[in-house]
Amino acid sequence: MSEIELLSSVPIFSDLQSTDLEELHSRMSIRKFEKNDIILMEDEFGDTLFIINKGSIKITRVSEDGREVILAILGEGEFFGEMSLLDGQTRSANAIAQTGCHVLILKRHDFLQVLEKFPKIAVSLLSELAIRIRKSDQQIESFALSDAEQRIGITILRLAEELGTIHKGVVRIAKLPYQQDIANMAGTSRETVSRMLKLLEDKSLISRKAHTLSILDYTKFRNAFM
Ligand code: CMP
Repeated sequence: MSEIELLSSVPIFSDLQSTDLEELHSRMSIRKFEKNDIILMEDEFGDTLFIINKGSIKITRVSEDGREVILAILGEGEFFGEMSLLDGQTRSANAIAQTGCHVLILKRHDFLQVLEKFPKIAVSLLSELAIRIRKSDQQIESFALSDAEQRIGITILRLAEELGTIHKGVVRIAKLPYQQDIANMAGTSRETVSRMLKLLEDKSLISRKAHTLSILDYTKFRNAFM
């Protein structure tokens, strides 16, 4: 996919005409990151918006006892770094490359100009932020559950919504994050995730092959955890 095609596939830019996309593209630069590189750090001042061209990144915070909590995993066409551009505060979380990544970068001044010139982008941005708040609300709600297995179930449902493809009632998550990352999303240990995945397999609720997890009956799985 060309960078212009990528920009048109980013939900907040999908209303732009091709000349506008070209103008936007001309204001951007590209940067590459290796797996595990820290792209931005919580509490730093930042003046750039990032759009993922290739690869995936995780948004994390570190708890007081040093545990990583994963707030979101973002993939191709998704953006991050907008919060500190909008409120002028420091970065709210860390962004770490989960794989090798190519990201497009837009400076604050250009981002704010684009928002002024294209109010529809501002509305789409608000809609995307609303989606993220809804997901965070679900994560907060699930963290209040004492049952780690239920939290893992809810995390798998979230990954299915974000990364899954559906075919004949089976939802396939092709690039399942590492068990440690699932644990950090669900607020539990890698061992509990490993045990739980095996249990779900024994109950024929899921099947696994390499990095692909399939939810065999999505409705049944959902009813078991929601
Ligand atoms: P910013 O605060 O500039 O830098 C960290 C970025 O992480 C933030 O902008 C958002 O883009 C992203 N981010 C923070 N919290 C969440 C969340 N709960 N879900 C998705 N992305 C987030």
